[in-house]
Amino acid sequence: MALDRQQLQSIIKEFTVDAEQLREIAANFRQDLKLGLNDPKDSSLRMLRSYVGLPTGKETGEYLALDFGGTNVRVSRIKLQGAGRFEVTKKVGKPLIVPGEYDYVGVGSTSDQMFDFLAELIDEAIDKDHDTKFFLGHTFSFPSTQTDLYNAKLIIWTKEFATSGVEGEVVNDLLTEALKRRGIENIEPISVINDTVAVLLSAAYQKSDTYIGSIYATGQNNCYVESTINDPNNVGVGGMILNLESGGFMKLTPNRFDIEFDQSSEKPGEQRMEKMVSGRYMGELFGMALAELFNEEGEKYNFTSIDISSILMDDSVDGDRIAAIIKDKVNKDVDSEDAKKIKELAAAIVIRSARLVTASFVGIIWHRTGSGKINRQHIAVDGSVYEKMPLVKENINRALNELLGEEAKNIDTILDNGGSGLGAAISAAMAANHADK
Ligand code: GLC
Repeated sequence: MALDRQQLQSIIKEFTVDAEQLREIAANFRQDLKLGLNDPKDSSLRMLRSYVGLPTGKETGEYLALDFGGTNVRVSRIKLQGAGRFEVTKKVGKPLIVPGEYDYVGVGSTSDQMFDFLAELIDEAIDKDHDTKFFLGHTFSFPSTQTDLYNAKLIIWTKEFATSGVEGEVVNDLLTEALKRRGIENIEPISVINDTVAVLLSAAYQKSDTYIGSIYATGQNNCYVESTINDPNNVGVGGMILNLESGGFMKLTPNRFDIEFDQSSEKPGEQRMEKMVSGRYMGELFGMALAELFNEEGEKYNFTSIDISSILMDDSVDGDRIAAIIKDKVNKDVDSEDAKKIKELAAAIVIRSARLVTASFVGIIWHRTGSGKINRQHIAVDGSVYEKMPLVKENINRALNELLGEEAKNIDTILDNGGSGLGAAISAAMAANHADK
């Protein structure tokens, strides 16, 4: 069957953010930052205090880093050598779900099961050495209210996590109890940070002029250093990093696919921007739109962002790879013309995502810069969508140019691969040094 070109154009239009809308979204993001600094209740951004500023780059020592927040959990031992150098001396990792075997994040899973699983992985990372003392830094990639670098209470699960008994709890207390249950008394969790904060710490440890950290993966979120906050519990230099939870940004215009998807999600009404941009959701949106093109509106097609990536990577004339994916996922035969259209749809969803994320970066840059000139700076980004999804980097650059003109040359986004682990170790070092004083 041939897909209808006009119908496709009209769906693509619904996923298009034009230049004017882009500017308006960036301006609204900036406005929400300003409102949120006065009172987070007035903003759709949570603006969560991290109680950590930038590292000096001189942090040293060996720490354990727990990276928890996506489909895989990782525990590493990291030796910080100062001068921005480090060595990962051990790394272990496991998925949180193995279909048919276990699932620590779905409905029906419990806090004890989840944290026992983490404790087991930590035990593996320390080779079951229950004597040597280690401080542990914890990258916990969910919205948490903090009162200092240790004390972080999960506000609400995002990214469709549904484990019971964790919301409202101090996550490092749950971890410490699980370690005890396993007979591990020599590991002391000492810090908790968001993954965006971890990426910023990691990049800033190695490179100066970095003030914004971002994750563009299963979830999407940004943080930045707010230089005006002074707090006696804050550790580090340059101000305090705020975890914006920008996935919750609301001043956007969702299209009917976004609205319908939100209604069927684990937490309707929450994380509206994230549901439009992140890797966890792009496949779902693509599936909904494609079902409409196949005249099967409402049918649940099971696409992931990895499928979108494969579709976009098919540069062949006959679209064989695309046809194979469509056959596999929805059992339909498509010809080369249809394959081309399907690729256009995938591109529209990815381009929208990159443009919205860039608008949020620019909102932060405008906020930090005020009326002055934009200084040369890096935005540290980690995550599979940023790293691997075709069209993302070029569309970030394009949108930066649209919004900043000449000054866009002062901004570059840099990949900070592995920043979640390194950042956790750096935060543990910063917390340990602070405690020593
Ligand atoms: C979700 C979480 C946020 C995290 C992001 C990236 O948006 O709420 O805390 O930073 O995913 O993992």
